[in-house]
Amino acid sequence: MTSRQYLGLSLVLAALALQPAAARDIASGELLGQNCAACHGTDGREFNEAMPPLAGMETEQFIRAMKDFREGRREGVVMDRIARAYSDAEIEAMAAWFASRPATQYGSEEHE
Ligand code: HEC
Repeated sequence: MTSRQYLGLSLVLAALALQPAAARDIASGELLGQNCAACHGTDGREFNEAMPPLAGMETEQFIRAMKDFREGRREGVVMDRIARAYSDAEIEAMAAWFASRPATQYGSEEHE
């Protein structure tokens, strides 16, 4: 095998290895994220002046917010306690899933 063929094969294998992992992250992020629906709405799409939508939130911003709550760097009425239930990997999985949701109020389509 030439080094070029080897490189090509490696890239294909790397792509195959990465693909299911990414899909799994989104799926478990969805499952975890549904726990937030009671307050943040379905898909994180319930929001108001005081609370921004989780849907469409930049992943870095989401991860920072969750870790700040968890480590006590940011105060919250409830989020400091909620964030403590999640590992880094779980926060990252939720971040990816919420970022992929449309940032429009849930149900707004029906009212327009
Ligand atoms: C009991 C209601 C409740 C639940 C359940 C809840 N949240 Fe929150 N969330 C809040 C409130 C209220 C705030 C405003 C900060 C505070 O006072 O704690 C907030 C703020 C946030 C923010 C900060 C947004 C910003 O301003 O940058 C993030 C991120 C967040 N929540 C993520 C989550 C995630 C992820 C879950 C599910 C694992 C979740 N929340 C579950 C009530 C809730």
